[in-house]
Amino acid sequence: MTVDKIPTHLALIMDGNGRWAKRRGLPRLMGHRAGLRRLEEMVRMVKKRGIRYFSAYVFSTENWNRPQMEVEGLMSLFRHYIRRKVSDLKAEGGRLRFCGRRDRIPGDLLAMMREAEEETKDQTTIDFILCLNYGGRAEILDAINALIADGHRGEVTEADLRRFFYLPDVPDPDLIVRTSGELRISNFWMWESAYSEFYFTDIHWPDFDERELDRALEHYAARDRRYGGLKS
Ligand code: FPP
Repeated sequence: MTVDKIPTHLALIMDGNGRWAKRRGLPRLMGHRAGLRRLEEMVRMVKKRGIRYFSAYVFSTENWNRPQMEVEGLMSLFRHYIRRKVSDLKAEGGRLRFCGRRDRIPGDLLAMMREAEEETKDQTTIDFILCLNYGGRAEILDAINALIADGHRGEVTEADLRRFFYLPDVPDPDLIVRTSGELRISNFWMWESAYSEFYFTDIHWPDFDERELDRALEHYAARDRRYGGLKS
């Protein structure tokens, strides 16, 4: 497929792992495992299409409220990914970055996250961003508090605030895809999504394949982005 307008930053809300598993009589964690496999494939497909930034909402600030077994299972999946897959990402020119609050994350996982970021920091083909312990409201609050702590005085501009976001150099998402039929943003990229385009599909995340990706990209290519201006 060739589309002439490719997003610079594609963001993903991978919903439906639990429902996918339930439909098959499997535990929820099996759904997350299938979701991770799909996400790994997706990084390759996204990179092939020339998308420079790819972010995925893997654990929100609210996901700590899930049953302890599920939270621990997800933390183990993150460990597994970093331990086993980061070298593949690096070999393909990918840079791994984490976006979110660093509190509450188990110490060993946090150390692995830092190491993986350091290990891949010079890769320039694609930035693969895992939004882990991320919340859009938390990010805005953290930025305001950091700005105050930095001694900022007087009027605050958008640029002032952005300097203190988790990943200030990452451009705002051009396209946000959400799977599994929910039509909401769920605290993802709250500030940065002001002018994002949205694509929703009923497909559960583990079933979202290359054809679905291209369908989303075709929809995006057909959109007329006006940023509050007049129709061209
Ligand atoms: C939403 O589905 C999915 C999540 C909250 C977790 C997503 C995480 C992964 C796929 C693991 C990724 C891991 C790495 C290392 C990148 P849901 O559980 O809310 O599904 P439901 O709405 O059907 O219950």
